Amino acid sequence: SDIRTAPTQSVGPEYQSESQKPTATVSTPVNFDNVTILPQTPQLIALLSIIRNRDTQRGDFVFYSNRIIRLLVEEGLNHLPTVEHTVTTPVGRPYDGLAFHGKICGVSIMRAGEAMEQALRECCRSVRIGKILIQRDEETAQPKLFYDKLPEDIADRWVLLLDPMFATGGSAMMAVDVLKSRGVPDERILFLNVLASPEGITNFATKFPKVRVVSAFVDPGLDEKNYIIPGLGDFGDRYYTR
Ligand code: URA
Repeated sequence: SDIRTAPTQSVGPEYQSESQKPTATVSTPVNFDNVTILPQTPQLIALLSIIRNRDTQRGDFVFYSNRIIRLLVEEGLNHLPTVEHTVTTPVGRPYDGLAFHGKICGVSIMRAGEAMEQALRECCRSVRIGKILIQRDEETAQPKLFYDKLPEDIADRWVLLLDPMFATGGSAMMAVDVLKSRGVPDERILFLNVLASPEGITNFATKFPKVRVVSAFVDPGLDEKNYIIPGLGDFGDRYYTR
């Protein structure tokens, strides 16, 4: 596919002047109301620089991708509804705060999406997590549903759909179709991913304008094998093997 030019930006703390800040390649902008890209902070760019590096070994790949995934989950949770909630502090004073409202669950797209389950568990104690296995059908070359195990009351929950690599969007779109067939409304699905492509986002957001997407970063495109470029290679292989 055509390779767009990736944007470059100065990245650094507010107290530094533009000329003091180093420049880096930042996320390709996307123009869909339902898509949120994480703020392009020095932390995020440095963490991504580690996991994108082909010389980064598995231990560091796991550690630093876990940190990015944690940022994604924390941002994703900001898209869930809250209600006003006043508590009394130990010194007897009220604090007008908020409480989370509604039940949630995670659904990982196997195998790479399972790498995102731990961060969700760290943020949401004893969260229910379902799984979906989608693989390319050898004959048709189309994504095919091989297995799913989902909470029986999933239709009553908000669903955080987990898959780190959002390339063509084929698997994610099939996963959303499965969730919808179990009664989950589009508005209650939130798709969290580490690295997206503009074609994946366009395909997905056109088909499901009401499903929310949170990505850490959008790369400029895909190669002829539908790998994200510059990307980080095969996420599942780097996280689980060697
Ligand atoms: N899946 C991956 O692991 N990497 C890509 O670049 C695209 C899909």
